[in-house]
Amino acid sequence: MWTDLKAHYARTEGRNILNLFADGDRFGDFSAALGDMLFDYSKTNIDADTRASLIALAETAGVAARRDAMFAGEKINETEGRSVLHTALRNLDGRKVEVDGQDVMPEVLDTLSRMEAFATAVRDGSYSAQGGKITDVINIGIGGSDLGPAMAYRALSPYADGPACHYVSNVDGADIHDVLKKCDPTTTLVIVASKTFTTIETMTNAETARKWMAEQVSDTGAQFAALSSADDKAAEWGIAAERVFGFEDWVGGRYSMWGPIGLSVMIAIGADDFRAFLQGGDAMDTHFLTADFSENLPVLLALVGIWHHQLSGHGTRAVLPYDNRLGRLPAYFQQLEMESNGKSVSMDGSDLTNQAGPIVWGEPGTNGQHAFYQLIHQGTQVVPVEFMVAAKGHEEDLAHHHKLLVANCFAQSEALLRGRSLDECRERMAAKGLTGDELERQARHRVFSGNRPSTTLIYPKMTPYVLGQIIALYEHRVFVEGTILGINSYDQWGVELGKELALALDPILSGEQDGAGKDGSTLGLVKYVQNA
Ligand code: F6P
Repeated sequence: MWTDLKAHYARTEGRNILNLFADGDRFGDFSAALGDMLFDYSKTNIDADTRASLIALAETAGVAARRDAMFAGEKINETEGRSVLHTALRNLDGRKVEVDGQDVMPEVLDTLSRMEAFATAVRDGSYSAQGGKITDVINIGIGGSDLGPAMAYRALSPYADGPACHYVSNVDGADIHDVLKKCDPTTTLVIVASKTFTTIETMTNAETARKWMAEQVSDTGAQFAALSSADDKAAEWGIAAERVFGFEDWVGGRYSMWGPIGLSVMIAIGADDFRAFLQGGDAMDTHFLTADFSENLPVLLALVGIWHHQLSGHGTRAVLPYDNRLGRLPAYFQQLEMESNGKSVSMDGSDLTNQAGPIVWGEPGTNGQHAFYQLIHQGTQVVPVEFMVAAKGHEEDLAHHHKLLVANCFAQSEALLRGRSLDECRERMAAKGLTGDELERQARHRVFSGNRPSTTLIYPKMTPYVLGQIIALYEHRVFVEGTILGINSYDQWGVELGKELALALDPILSGEQDGAGKDGSTLGLVKYVQNA
């Protein structure tokens, strides 16, 4: 399959994407929809043959069978011997999902109702703190226990009418310091979010928050909640069972915002809007399970990714949401994609025969336009871009802003597609009165090669439901790409070594241990800090 695709790529490489629009309804043929959400991939060098070959690749890789196995609770996370069932967290109908012969749905739905009762009580004041109604919620977590809720809280701020939420993740004391100084301990709820309840950054921050609260609150335990798979550890730490919201090990950290890890978002936006978020995710699941691959958004998004990264050799991809409130989405996708598919070995432990998943990066538009877009338009490396934008903004009185935002988004993908030729630039320079060598020199600086691929995901408005659709879309995209590449997208062994070494360096930094066995650079840096 790869050989065919490589040959196909060689035949089509360098072809002008703009010319592909000459035949028929390319926009209609190379876009796919789920309800009101539209994924346009017509501005890529993919034609009907490419698409057919890519779909055949997905079929040969067994995407459908592995997808079904995942949804059915089979232990597809083989290196950890776990099922992969974050999809169960948004299965609001309670359709049976079994792990080891046991239906997991009653417990999932029970936890959801406990979360809803608690979130509602926090919002309406029936659960209160020493100083009265909760005004602030601090979510302490990192990675998957932070990025999802932090991203969603900001994305859905037009819906946030509960207490203010703050997110602390970094072990850098500056992070918690800056949040604590904004909050009143007598009216603050601290949520310790950690699947394992052992993550050093989170536990250090949680301890600091507890000390801060204890200065003014007599029963600190009453103002703490825990979100974890390790309820025993949360209990040992002193959090009462009624405020421990558990989830099973078949929910991966970076896939966990649908369940208890989303509690802060639920408190902020309310249980109904959080349900709408889950419904959006569930709608994407149903689509992923049932739509033909040629119309299947996660499959198509993955295949475009495979085409750009594996066949065209573009090592990164940029996610550029034209939505300021999606400012944390690129960071969220970085964990989702790079922790999932940034591996060197395939499922059976042998070396990957392809590159692993790409580097993912981005920033909201239009800000990026005035920063790194220079490289995207004229740099020597091609960066495939994934734009996303809502047709309408939330600020009706500022509709003219939104129109400009949308115009900029479309203009960027058009510029990447169309470019500007040397002849055109010469004409422009001539019109400015330049001649000879100076005209030529100036013209060359102004050339845009164009023919640079991008996709656009467009939807009516950023709502909880739409956010749910987008997150589930990207989760499944990662799954499809991982399956095609033979990667287990659900483990993350690559984060372990650094954690171990950091623990070992702690006593060396404080001088309790010497640095025997450490390299010269590390020892030199340790000395620098010790002498500072
Ligand atoms: O170090 C990586 C990681 O394990 C992520 O996969 C996870 O999301 C994050 O740390 C936080 O882990 P926990 O929720 O167990 O504190």
